[in-house]
Amino acid sequence: MRVAVVGATGAVGSTILGVMRERSFAADEIVPFASERSAGRTIAYSERPAGASVRSPGDTDLTVVSLSEDSIQGFDLALFSAGSAISAEWAPRFVEAGAVVVDNSSQWRMSDDVPLVVAEVNPDALREHRGIVANPNCTTMQTVMVLGPILQSVGIERVIMSSYQAVSGTGQRAVDELHRQAEAVIEAHELPAPAVYPHQIAFNVLPQVESFKDGDDYTTEERKCMFEMRKILGRSDVGVSATCARVPVYTGHSVSANVQTREPLSPDECRALLAKAPGVVVVDDPANAIYPTAIDAAGRDDVLVGRIRRDPSHERCLNLWIVGDNLRKGAATNAVQVAELLSVRGLVPAARV
Ligand SMILES: NC(=O)c1ccc[n+]([C@@H]2O[C@H](COP(=O)([O-])OP(=O)(O)OC[C@H]3O[C@@H](n4cnc5c(N)ncnc54)[C@H](OP(=O)(O)O)[C@@H]3O)[C@@H](O)[C@H]2O)c1
Repeated sequence: MRVAVVGATGAVGSTILGVMRERSFAADEIVPFASERSAGRTIAYSERPAGASVRSPGDTDLTVVSLSEDSIQGFDLALFSAGSAISAEWAPRFVEAGAVVVDNSSQWRMSDDVPLVVAEVNPDALREHRGIVANPNCTTMQTVMVLGPILQSVGIERVIMSSYQAVSGTGQRAVDELHRQAEAVIEAHELPAPAVYPHQIAFNVLPQVESFKDGDDYTTEERKCMFEMRKILGRSDVGVSATCARVPVYTGHSVSANVQTREPLSPDECRALLAKAPGVVVVDDPANAIYPTAIDAAGRDDVLVGRIRRDPSHERCLNLWIVGDNLRKGAATNAVQVAELLSVRGLVPAARV
């Protein structure tokens, strides 16, 4: 199997390569793609955890190539994380050339004929693919990992979610911006003008993730959460209301979710249910200050859930605190899991119609 990783030098793409190596992804050849700026650069395909920087004897160097009609030929799978514009143009071209695309951007998520898949929640949706499979938005991904089992067990009427999202969710430039601003504040230097976000992110909280489009008073991120949640759960009747905020955390999104179930579910029953859910770990002993934090989740594939408690204002509502690594389960790990499922289920090459 030949696999292309498009956007391989970015925050998600480099994590995809790390996760593939960690999981011993069965590929005969992996080709990293990035922009012209990075073409010719080498990337160590290493056995160490994604993000670590020390070379080991198991490292292999992969050479970055740019996208062209010639360079995209002959792939079975292409894992994309180079933004929506690149996905819009190049994902169909990879499909045309015979590959199945797993796309991390938001370009194809809303399309009716593109399955939006969380490996543990709706893997059977992969059967419907026509060449492109979409990976959900990171905030939606970690929330759905917890809501999926609750929906299956007692049904869900409504979810009110607020997110506290890390800067790596915006990509490497945002990580650098937080770093530079934090350094300037601590060293009492003049702050560089914000370039990635509309305001200073260091030591601040911004109630805006992505942009406000066409006079909408919800951001594009909030709209994605509301739409994608229903699509993955396969339930258009579940009400979802989202507020997304950006916080000065490098990695790990946190979500406060208020979940109104159809049937009663006590906090203890919810803990027992989620303890059995694949990919979810219950961390919930608040009296001893044990609950999930972004730092606990960073570098892990599991979604962590805690602070599970009854909402005193409604007998069928629970409050939960859900934390996940936006680069791993929120993007790279799920993309690699989807690629593995496609391969194991015989869904590569594309099931064209
Ligand atoms: N970060 C997250 O937590 C997260 C989570 C879920 C989904 N996503 C989505 O994943 C995508 C990538 O996000 P990211 O955070 O990894 O961004 P990023 O760090 O900015 O990386 C962008 C990647 O795209 C490449 N690229 C840019 N222009 C290109 C071109 N013309 N041809 C080929 N490659 C090109 C870049 O290559 P160069 O290095 O050469 O510029 C880089 O490898 C976005 O659609 C994002 O919405 C991100």
